[in-house]
Amino acid sequence: MNYTPVRISTLKAEMDIPFNVYIHFKEQYLKYLSDGTQIEKAKFKKLRRQKITKFYIDATDENKYQQFLDDLLNQTLNDDKAEVDEKISIVEGQAETALDRMQDDPGSESSFDMTRKAAQNLRKMIFENPEALARMFGNADNSDDIAKHSINVCVLASKFAASEKVSDEDIDFLCTAALMHDVAIAKMSDEYKELFHKPRADLSAKEKLEYFKHCDMNFISMLADRPYINEHVINLIKNHEENLQGSGPYKKTKLEKSEEILSLVNTYEKKISGEGLTPDAAIKKMTIDEMGNYDLKMINRFKDFLKAEGVI
Ligand SMILES: [Fe+2]
Ligand SMILES: [Fe+2]
Repeated sequence: MNYTPVRISTLKAEMDIPFNVYIHFKEQYLKYLSDGTQIEKAKFKKLRRQKITKFYIDATDENKYQQFLDDLLNQTLNDDKAEVDEKISIVEGQAETALDRMQDDPGSESSFDMTRKAAQNLRKMIFENPEALARMFGNADNSDDIAKHSINVCVLASKFAASEKVSDEDIDFLCTAALMHDVAIAKMSDEYKELFHKPRADLSAKEKLEYFKHCDMNFISMLADRPYINEHVINLIKNHEENLQGSGPYKKTKLEKSEEILSLVNTYEKKISGEGLTPDAAIKKMTIDEMGNYDLKMINRFKDFLKAEGVI
């Protein structure tokens, strides 16, 4: 049997689960829940306290899982009475599940589909719940930092782009690319993965060369060959470490508006999830360190946007 990971935050207590659920323990997959049964609330809470984040399902149940998750998301996101934290948790769960799969199999259409759906749901949730952005940045979270970074970049970039009058269609490409932009970091060795936590200005020439490989065509071409992914999304991913001074991997000095937004938001958010700064400290550092890398007026508008959203 082939097992596929699903984040436990995409399942819900006291609801019929229409597929078997397994946990991975000591190299074995053990059945945790039988098809058609429910997880008790107390048991569910205990799992979360124990920091168990993933369940597994039989890969042949994938369609059942996607249908279940679509229904649950529909219900939760459109429920006026549902708490905003519940909405955040389930949409983040979908995004994390999608990213887990993307890392395992970036070229697969179903991984891409789930990532795109998750990006759309993050966008919907953030636009319909004005308090959500501030809550997401207020949550000290010790989950997978690259996934958290990617989710944060997705919501921040989508909403900032709307205030920058980027078209709806371009925001659609931007939110998908933002969620996927660092997925190639998972393919780097542990030594180089750690560079995510190091300020870019402190990277040695060799470290920079290695780190920038997550933007290189070895990975991107794997996506570019696919008929279901378009060149807007590819270019955004490829150019997310570029800036106006040309110190990115491709040394570009001219960026499309969406590319500049993605790069700026990525640089800002990495100071939070990567370097551990608070949102306040990160924007202060940004205005000093990134002078010239981005249009100063855009940095200032971004700062005003963060204030208006209650993030800083
Ligand atoms: Fe990156
Ligand atoms: Fe990033």
